[in-house]
Amino acid sequence: MDFDLSDDLIAVRDGAREFAERELLPRAAASDEAEAFVEAQWKACGEAGWAGMSIPEAYGGQGLSAVATSLALAELSRACAATGVTVSVHLGLCSAALVRWGNEEQRRRYLPRLASGEWLGAYALSEAGSGSDAAALRCAATPDGAGGFVLDGSKLWITSGDHANLVVVFARTSNESKAKGITAFLVETSWPGVQPGKKEKKMGIRGSSTVEMRLDRVRVPAANVLGEVNQGFSVAMGLLDGGRIGIACQALGIAQACLEASVKYAKEREQFGQPIASFESIQWKLAEMALRIDAARLLILRAAWLKDQGRPHTREASMAKLDASRTADFCAKEAVQVHGGAGYTKEFPVERYFRDARITEIYEGTTEIQNLVIAREVLRG
Ligand code: CAA
Repeated sequence: MDFDLSDDLIAVRDGAREFAERELLPRAAASDEAEAFVEAQWKACGEAGWAGMSIPEAYGGQGLSAVATSLALAELSRACAATGVTVSVHLGLCSAALVRWGNEEQRRRYLPRLASGEWLGAYALSEAGSGSDAAALRCAATPDGAGGFVLDGSKLWITSGDHANLVVVFARTSNESKAKGITAFLVETSWPGVQPGKKEKKMGIRGSSTVEMRLDRVRVPAANVLGEVNQGFSVAMGLLDGGRIGIACQALGIAQACLEASVKYAKEREQFGQPIASFESIQWKLAEMALRIDAARLLILRAAWLKDQGRPHTREASMAKLDASRTADFCAKEAVQVHGGAGYTKEFPVERYFRDARITEIYEGTTEIQNLVIAREVLRG
């Protein structure tokens, strides 16, 4: 048992921090304010190799482990949570689908472009009537008679949906079974019939775009069926096991930023003739934040380590996501409190962290769904 990070892992973490402070941090507030996609941040991630960090080197990526990727994702998110989720979904929910379920031809066709950041990836599972109950999806995939399918329906809450080039779409290929009637498809957004719909106006992570995606008689060739027909729900869930580690990292990055901002402010701000950091009431807040951040980090590293070993990590990923997102929420609330009235204004970044933190308890499975997943695993014994 060794709690020290290796030199290689420290280099990845520090490299990501240095990059994020230089390229992401200065742009984060403006993207949030303008509700504008993190275009420049994404481009910088591509140029610096972060867009392909977990994609194998054979396909143009950096081939980083899940542990290394987690450390880097937390650093990107500490600077800009909107970039954090953009990269997390691109890698964890789209590129990872090709790495794990794609055939060699599909990998060669798409992964190099995803790894370089030339292409952005997305994931389309949810619909208006199927959020937490993901297997209830209704988007229809009808055989075209030539081994391909025609997709018809509408997907919701698609991260980067209006900027992405490739989307992993889940659609119904059989009505005979709920979960075992779903298939995964690799859909290029330039194809006829693929149209971004309504763009959500969000409370936080406003630099990440979240859109509806309409699929109107979209012809998907046989070469773009991902994995086996009717086995797509396992693909969706397997991807979320990894994606949830990514969102946990995003939450951890936000929480860390909250703590650092609070420590800085508490040392500078004076009341009653002394820095507020000298008051026990503030110290306890900082201590509780630090404690919860460390606990979340350990849960994340355990889940990522299991993933690297090729071992099951459904329960551990849900635990990491549940704990880290609660931690982000807690730290953001306390950070605003430490800043007092100033924290309620846009003069300080904690106002943005407060709004950004909230979504981490909602997307890629709500806190309630993580509890359900953990409980099922616990009861299974
Ligand atoms: N890995 C692989 N396969 C899995 C799996 C996993 N972790 N979990 C389930 N499966 C497979 C199993 O093969 C199972 O079949 P068996 O009965 O043969 O074992 C099949 O799926 C059905 O599983 P369940 O009976 O457990 O399915 P369920 O309908 O009860 O649903 C659920 C389970 C956990 C509630 C699931 O629906 C879920 O995770 N819901 C939340 C969905 C979610 O996270 N959505 C987020 C979308 S992405 C997003 O947020 C936007 C974004 O871009 C960021």
